[in-house]
Amino acid sequence: MPDSLPAARALQLAARVDAIEPFRVMEMVKAAAAMTRAGADVISMSVGEPDFTAPDVVAEAAMAAIRAGSTQYTESLGLPALREAISGWYAATHGLDIPPQRIVVTAGASAGLLLACAALVADGDEVLMPDPCYPCNRHFVSAFGGTPVLLPSGPDQRYQLTAAQVDAGWSARTRGVIVASPSNPTGTSMTPAQTRGLLDAVRARGGFAIVDEIYQGLSYGETPVSALAFGDDVVTVNSFSKYFGMTGWRLGWLVLPESLVPAVEKLAQNLFICAPTVAQRAALACFAPEALAIFEARRLEFQRRRDFLVPALRALGFSIPVMPDGAFYVYADIAGLAHPDAHDSAAFGMAVLRDAHVAIVPGGDFGFAAPQRHVRFSYATRYERIEQAVERIAALLRR
Ligand SMILES: Cc1ncc(COP(=O)(O)O)c(C=O)c1O
Repeated sequence: MPDSLPAARALQLAARVDAIEPFRVMEMVKAAAAMTRAGADVISMSVGEPDFTAPDVVAEAAMAAIRAGSTQYTESLGLPALREAISGWYAATHGLDIPPQRIVVTAGASAGLLLACAALVADGDEVLMPDPCYPCNRHFVSAFGGTPVLLPSGPDQRYQLTAAQVDAGWSARTRGVIVASPSNPTGTSMTPAQTRGLLDAVRARGGFAIVDEIYQGLSYGETPVSALAFGDDVVTVNSFSKYFGMTGWRLGWLVLPESLVPAVEKLAQNLFICAPTVAQRAALACFAPEALAIFEARRLEFQRRRDFLVPALRALGFSIPVMPDGAFYVYADIAGLAHPDAHDSAAFGMAVLRDAHVAIVPGGDFGFAAPQRHVRFSYATRYERIEQAVERIAALLRR
């Protein structure tokens, strides 16, 4: 052992780190945690995480796998039985024939997005996405040397990218699009006609379409239609995190065009080896009838919360021009509110936390078009707590 350790020194960072912005919402989460530690009763409507966790039958399957020692690496593309179960789920819930060979099990939708971008985005490529959108999407693109191009997508187009925007925004460097339906932060889905139009526009230019369907199980309107119904050249992303309530288990999947599977397999082998084995074995139990009945009951409970929250916020003066039809988010325009910080969502978010003890997310993380006018509410919180939160915000706005 040397007498003394060398002084800590800062290592030179790769340039790509500069393109990655920190999650501003974490400031809010930290401030809320500090208030809670100090004894305040803070209602969290900030995190994008279901308050439900894996059903018992899934937890039991995980424990059985551990006890049986079924914990070795799986194939990089995923446990064959799970790929088959996911394929069966597409047939049962969407009437789609998706062969297991096109399904790749990943460590959450995050690893799916990462693998898809690793396979498709090269230095200097542009990728179109709506503004607002899930913040990590632009960072997945920039991590591989690409440039995310965010196109302002307002309520008149359900906050989703349109075929017309693809036509107008496509440059010689554009390679594809990334969208999510339903969307985080807006909870709005593309209509089937919008999806078809978007995919046709991308296809006409020989580009790729990555469609994140992580929230599609949590849809409250018409039966959702997967982008996979509109062609086998689409990359879709999905996950056990949200609908199946398994955020920390780190499990998701991609459905790929068949020609992309060998490239993604090679990348997965090298970057991750495989998704967590225990989580994969446990996830098999998600497709048991008793688990599916629990997920359906939870979906209805999310819908009940939405049906309370949206009118309640509108009555307080928040503008929500499109009824969110999925996920567990409400993206609300604060510009018309009678509050001194209504011109600045970051200041308004802090005021709501400080004075109403409700944690919400200011728009800044989700894009550049109108972040100061918007906040995101997550209703992945008990119904009674949502009622309380609305009362508190009403009192704050009356002050
Ligand atoms: C739109 C969207 N995609 C992907 C993810 C990442 O999910 P996962 O936990 O499956 O990695 C999230 C998480 O909030 C999300 O909102």
